[in-house]
Amino acid sequence: MNAKTNVKRINNSEIQPRRMDFRFDDSIPTYWFAGDQFKSILLTSLSCTFPEGERFFVRSVRHYQPGITNPVLREEVKGFIGQEAHHGNEHEHFNALMQKKGLPTRKVEEFVLNGLKWQGKKLSPARQLAKTCALEHFTAMLAETILENPEYFEGMDERLLPLWLWHAVEESEHKAVAFDVYQDQVNNYWVRTSEMAATTVEFVGFQIFHYFQLRAAMNDKTDWKSIAGGMKWLMGKNGFLRKLGPAYLSYYKRDFHPNQRDSRALRDAGLRKLATMLNRPELLEAIV
Ligand SMILES: [Fe+2]
Ligand SMILES: [Fe+2]
Repeated sequence: MNAKTNVKRINNSEIQPRRMDFRFDDSIPTYWFAGDQFKSILLTSLSCTFPEGERFFVRSVRHYQPGITNPVLREEVKGFIGQEAHHGNEHEHFNALMQKKGLPTRKVEEFVLNGLKWQGKKLSPARQLAKTCALEHFTAMLAETILENPEYFEGMDERLLPLWLWHAVEESEHKAVAFDVYQDQVNNYWVRTSEMAATTVEFVGFQIFHYFQLRAAMNDKTDWKSIAGGMKWLMGKNGFLRKLGPAYLSYYKRDFHPNQRDSRALRDAGLRKLATMLNRPELLEAIV
């Protein structure tokens, strides 16, 4: 993988998109996560939801952009839009590589596109923004869990680690932007929390569905040992998802705010690691 990076300030906030131009090598294996069937397919299916999912986030925030008068938030929104646009593009490159390897990622991306188009017609702008806030809470929780416990990504092909690490740092960085827009423009507790409940069911249900969409296209045998290990990785005593419980529930508190968890030190450490991995010290310029 070759990566070009460029950090150019595009707004007056601390949220600056870090441009990447990942080139994913064809020699990256289909089972790129420790040679593990389950984890590789699961995270590939998650990656398939990012390009269109993040475009939905941007649309839902843009709808309210003209009404935002807080000058700090206006700048942060620009940073949020820039970061999400880049994430979608880079995950598309990765998904294209997996398509070449035989995983029908394009089919999943199209499914997500159509599903979100449908939601865009059915849901009010307030509900669409609440859905974005809910999914941003999920991405921030996942990102910060990875940043805090890098051992969860042990064995991942090192050519793909920067993609996930970069995305995790920026998700944590902009975790409060959609929420602040929501509080500024909508500020309805019931809509926010009921949408989180509905989105949780959708997120888990569709993630399982997308896993099977990809898995069904592979002709190799089901690796039951990998599935058992994956379940332990997700839901075992120190499992990835188990760790998210308290953070997930905190979203239902009336006074919840994403920045109640100060993750700056975690992000800075992640960014230093990324700069070293890519040999791009200029990435650290974004640490303010
Ligand atoms: Fe993102
Ligand atoms: Fe995000």
